[in-house]
Amino acid sequence: MASNKSLLILPGDGIGPEAMTEVRRIVDWMGDRRAVKFDVDEDLVGGSSIDKHGIPITDEVVDKAQNVDAVLLGAVGGPKWDNLDFSIKPERGLLRLRKDLELFANLRPAICFDALVEASSLKPELVAGLDIMIVRELTGGVYFGEPRGIEDLGGGVRRGINTQVYTTPEIHRVARVAFELAQKRDGRVTSSEKANVMESGLLWREEVTKIGQEEFPDVELSHMYADNAAMQLVRAPKQFDVIVTDNLFGDILSDCAAMLTGSLGMLPSASLGGVDEHGRRKALYEPVHGSAPDIAGENKANPIATILSYAMALRYSFDMSDEADLVEKAVQNVLASGVRTGDIMAEGMTQVSTTEMGDAILKELDNLNA
Ligand code: IPM
Ligand code: MG
Repeated sequence: MASNKSLLILPGDGIGPEAMTEVRRIVDWMGDRRAVKFDVDEDLVGGSSIDKHGIPITDEVVDKAQNVDAVLLGAVGGPKWDNLDFSIKPERGLLRLRKDLELFANLRPAICFDALVEASSLKPELVAGLDIMIVRELTGGVYFGEPRGIEDLGGGVRRGINTQVYTTPEIHRVARVAFELAQKRDGRVTSSEKANVMESGLLWREEVTKIGQEEFPDVELSHMYADNAAMQLVRAPKQFDVIVTDNLFGDILSDCAAMLTGSLGMLPSASLGGVDEHGRRKALYEPVHGSAPDIAGENKANPIATILSYAMALRYSFDMSDEADLVEKAVQNVLASGVRTGDIMAEGMTQVSTTEMGDAILKELDNLNA
């Protein structure tokens, strides 16, 4: 069975484990009904790792992550671990995975499902049919730049420091991912930075332009300051196809884009590394939402973002677009039938638990596969 596809599941904290239980059922379904077997290993990350090992991720888990075809992560963090030192907070586990696996390109699609148009806080006509792809740089910028820290300047004065820094290769590789995606979509890239105030932003703009002109003349490139991009996202979101931006702006703009679709509980993401000599690329898939500690353990969470993250893994890591389509179609049909978890509940719909949402999606998979 050495040729099996390998998957490392890291459920993490809060609603992560509940959502991941539903994914495991779909993974099993793939094995039973589509004869696609995965070797699944499961381990700890975030607070759950802190509780057992004192650190948010162990070397052993990072090692496992380096050696599987894809990592699927639930969510990390919660109030229980909020007051820990920065260096061992739950989030550090996730950041270390991104950094050690060099997952520099974070794909965050913001798609508005027809059935959920009403759940958006924007007017239906602004979001109906919305399909944006945000490509966020994930291993550079202010998240990892040095120097960083909090200094004591004496006399009761302290100073906090972070550094925004990008090199040309870092910009080139993420720009290429964005251009390649645009070629398979509507052929347009909007690059976003603050070139009006930041040198790193100016460099970003110049280098993205260069890659566009030299390698992707067929893609239409435009530039937009990040503050304007935030504004445009809520003013007229459908003007965008692919947005490429740095780590920090990408964090902010992707939350904003996510909410356009009606619920953070719906959105998956893929974090991809470079392609190695065997044509393989390291990859981690996770929902955009956090660990939602307020509803954790209550069987209320929406598992769809995590399920769609698994669908993204099928598409990008395993080249199984038929199966990915199947999962996405099942989710769409279930939503169209009026089944809703609490976060996307609307008048006249049927509210269900996490498990029941999983049941409904599995049943629909059976129907579609019949
Ligand atoms: C995200 C999250 C993370 C980030 C946190 C949990 C470290 O907000 O994936 O968007 O800031 O990158
Ligand atoms: Mg974020």
